Amino acid sequence: MDYQEFVNKLIEKYGEDRSKLIEMAFDIQEQYNYIPKELLKILCDRLKIFYAEAYSSISFFKDFRFQPKEKIKITVCNGTSCYFNGGKELYEELIQNLGEDYEIGFSYCYKCCAKYPVVVIEKETLLNANYQKVKEKIRSYNKN
Ligand code: FES
Repeated sequence: MDYQEFVNKLIEKYGEDRSKLIEMAFDIQEQYNYIPKELLKILCDRLKIFYAEAYSSISFFKDFRFQPKEKIKITVCNGTSCYFNGGKELYEELIQNLGEDYEIGFSYCYKCCAKYPVVVIEKETLLNANYQKVKEKIRSYNKN
């Protein structure tokens, strides 16, 4: 959905009511995972407020981001041992259940084949990995 279209939806939902700016910001961040500057400018035009005023109000709250969040890299070993001992299923489970905040891929053998399946999250290696272990590990990244 393009920014103009999304602003139209916000106006439909909240009206051109500047007192609803924070509620709108929550909706924007839910949709895009951050507050895109161009979208906020379009919204400011519709609400007839200055961008700086809107930015200042929204940025007062720590929950909002004005830059896209970097994706956390999760790599599942695609070597023979890992692939045939749960790696393939784990990869599919990760793809199916984790959101777009993650960059999930395969890699070549990490040379610790007896500890299958092996998953690397950013630069940390997870041995005998399973979906639950991956979830616990990425929780620590999401706190940052
Ligand atoms: S096959 Fe996965 S570490 Fe070697």
